[in-house]
Amino acid sequence: MLAGKLRPMKKALITGVTGQDGSYLAEFLIEKDYEVHGVVRRSSTFNRSRIDHLRKGSASDRHLRLHYGDLGDTESLTTILASVQPDEIYNLAAQSHVGISFTMPTYTGDVSGLGTVRLLEAIRQILPHARFYQASSSELFGKVAEVPQNEQTPFHPRSPYAVAKLYSYWATINYREAHGLFATNGILFNHESPRRGENFVTRKITRAVAEIAAGHRDWLSLGNLEARRDWGFAGDFVDAMWRILQVDEPDDWVVGIGEEHSVREFCELAFARAGIELEWTGSGTEERGLDRANGATRVKVNPRYFRPAEVDQLLSDASKARQELGWEPKVGFEELVRMMVDADLEAVGLA
Ligand code: NAP
Ligand code: GDD
Repeated sequence: MLAGKLRPMKKALITGVTGQDGSYLAEFLIEKDYEVHGVVRRSSTFNRSRIDHLRKGSASDRHLRLHYGDLGDTESLTTILASVQPDEIYNLAAQSHVGISFTMPTYTGDVSGLGTVRLLEAIRQILPHARFYQASSSELFGKVAEVPQNEQTPFHPRSPYAVAKLYSYWATINYREAHGLFATNGILFNHESPRRGENFVTRKITRAVAEIAAGHRDWLSLGNLEARRDWGFAGDFVDAMWRILQVDEPDDWVVGIGEEHSVREFCELAFARAGIELEWTGSGTEERGLDRANGATRVKVNPRYFRPAEVDQLLSDASKARQELGWEPKVGFEELVRMMVDADLEAVGLA
């Protein structure tokens, strides 16, 4: 007990701490008694709603400290690294929206690609013994070469986002091989939560379901209903990130639940949770999801949400992570949908 108290607290630095994963990871590390530092971007309005609870009043307050910085700005990264001297660095910051990356390819490449190299180079120069986690993505598999996908599956990125993440993936491995950095990749499949950004499909659906149930709106528009994803709970996935930095040798791991479902299925389950049974009619852009009880349109298809190149299907084979990291997800797909709908119903005063 005494020895535990005398051991200095481990320090972690999280880029992207204000995002979905950053907020869960900060909570997770604080729980493990880390001193957690986060990089926040300057913006004209505060964007810290996901981490506010870690900054107010409670004892955990002193464990989360914020620093202004940006993956586009090398100087801010070197200054933060030099002053914080973290043991572990989790690079979660990115322009993370695949659809939007088609309209902002250069910016996405700068932040989600080159930004990683800015950080890796700063680590090489200032803190070469720190451990580095890169938030790589199942989007790397893109037009999938095999089903399911594991660490050996060839990559075929399908968006500026995925191309930028591919650059970061290989940069991470290159800094490991060329400079001996403890640099790792977690190739994470989709993970969601009530804190998911509102323009990702799962949260877009669960928010709309709650607003429709509350009578605040009538329907929602979606793009490709047939896309299939391996959706897990973000709270489970940050545990995998931490485990990746606790192993003896740096490596790369696929992390996912191992179950695939379509956007259409997600929609049906989410509406059902709010007591609305959907019935589909029509096809293509004329397809509609109707409320079986009264025939009202609840879902429309809008080509605006189609992507110039789509990733049709993602399914993980995370056996390596399960065996070598001892990682096990706790929340399954149906529980995830329930959790997200219930949180949004509560937000509109219906739970
Ligand atoms: P998110 O909610 O979009 O969060 C992204 C974070 O990056 C936010 O804190 C954002 O800050 C920050 N950021 C954006 N541009 C930045 C810049 N130029 N400098 C510094 N910070 C910047 O994403 P997430 O879902 O938590 O995902 C975390 C990471 O995992 C991302 O890299 C994502 O690409 C990757 N990933 C996610 C999934 C998934 O299913 N969630 C799967 C695989 C990989 P603001 O709050 O100021 O915008
Ligand atoms: N966003 C969105 N909005 N997607 C829609 C919509 C819609 O209205 N309608 C259908 N979709 C389809 C998309 O075309 C895609 O096939 C699927 O739903 C999931 O889209 P998103 O929720 O935006 O996530 P993503 O899979 O493209 O990307 C997320 O997961 C990646 C890991 O595989 C992001 O979190 C990425 O940052 C992450 O790397």
